[in-house]
Amino acid sequence: MIHDIDYYRNLIEGAIRGYRLPDSPAGLYDPIRYAMDCGGKRIRPILCMAMCEALGGSAADVVNQALAIEMFHNFTLLHDDVMDHADMRRGRPTVHVRWDERTAILSGDAMLSIASELVNEGVDAATASECRRLFHRTAMEVYEGQQYDMDFEDRTDVTVDDYLDMIRLKTSVLLGCACRMGAIVAGADDECQKYAYRFGELLGLAFQLRDDYLDTYGDPIMFGKEIGGDIVNDKKTWLLITALAEDTSGVVTQELAMPSEQYHKIERIKRVYDDLGLPERCRELIERYIADANRCVARLGLKPVDANFFTDLASKSSTRSN
Ligand code: IPE
Ligand code: IPE
Ligand code: MG
Ligand code: MG
Ligand code: MG
Repeated sequence: MIHDIDYYRNLIEGAIRGYRLPDSPAGLYDPIRYAMDCGGKRIRPILCMAMCEALGGSAADVVNQALAIEMFHNFTLLHDDVMDHADMRRGRPTVHVRWDERTAILSGDAMLSIASELVNEGVDAATASECRRLFHRTAMEVYEGQQYDMDFEDRTDVTVDDYLDMIRLKTSVLLGCACRMGAIVAGADDECQKYAYRFGELLGLAFQLRDDYLDTYGDPIMFGKEIGGDIVNDKKTWLLITALAEDTSGVVTQELAMPSEQYHKIERIKRVYDDLGLPERCRELIERYIADANRCVARLGLKPVDANFFTDLASKSSTRSN
């Protein structure tokens, strides 16, 4: 039986607190504690445990895998913030700012190793092997997505399809993996596992589109990250790709070739987005992915109250402000 979202949030927070890291060397472990302790939304472990329970398992059975996925996610953030030159996360300085880049690299490496170990724990050998396979395939896809994300910074010919494939890799597959791992540990059949994965993947596309929207239109206090970083870094988001294709003023092309000082670059490009009605169109696109995701939930054959858990979570993620 499925519980409410706070139940899963408390479970994962408890698992994070309960995971004992050595005290020394402090330079390695303190940044991991800092990254894991400070209030992420925990959407991936929540999805993982809720999917397991919706499909007949118990959250306790999959809590190690849920923690593995959250640990992996936080590892990617340590490295991502170096790659994106990002100074703030969750309202606090990022690890490479609070410590330094070499610390973010090494603590991130350790988090990946911890995650790889946790993914095997608390389940029988055959289940562990399935979880491991899914986890490693997903991790490789995330790295591919992150590489495309960086490659696209230097290109101006990126299409919306290229972008969608890039965000599928860097973000969606991990949400898909979280859902599918819950289904695996619940002992669900392959068809069910596939719909669980697809639900997470479609939700992940909406989730990254919303993240990109908030990077320009969010409130920095609520969002916890600096606003405008994607524009400054020439990230090929849906907003920028669409603006490049439709802008007749030439401002976007000009800013990519010969950027103004940061503040003005952000303001000038944002003005083009506004003039083209992109914020509203982006929200509509997100809604379409949420509707597709919800169609996958319908295919899981869940009790209505359990199905509502996932459609509610999807709807909250699509309008979130952090
Ligand atoms: C941030 O993920 C990276 C993206 C894929 C957009 P979250 O928005 O889930 O970050 P936290 O863990 O809640 O801070
Ligand atoms: C994050 O994309 C994807 C991964 C960390 C794998 P972003 O670079 O947009 O995430 P934020 O905005 O820094 O959280
Ligand atoms: Mg980033
Ligand atoms: Mg990034
Ligand atoms: Mg972002």
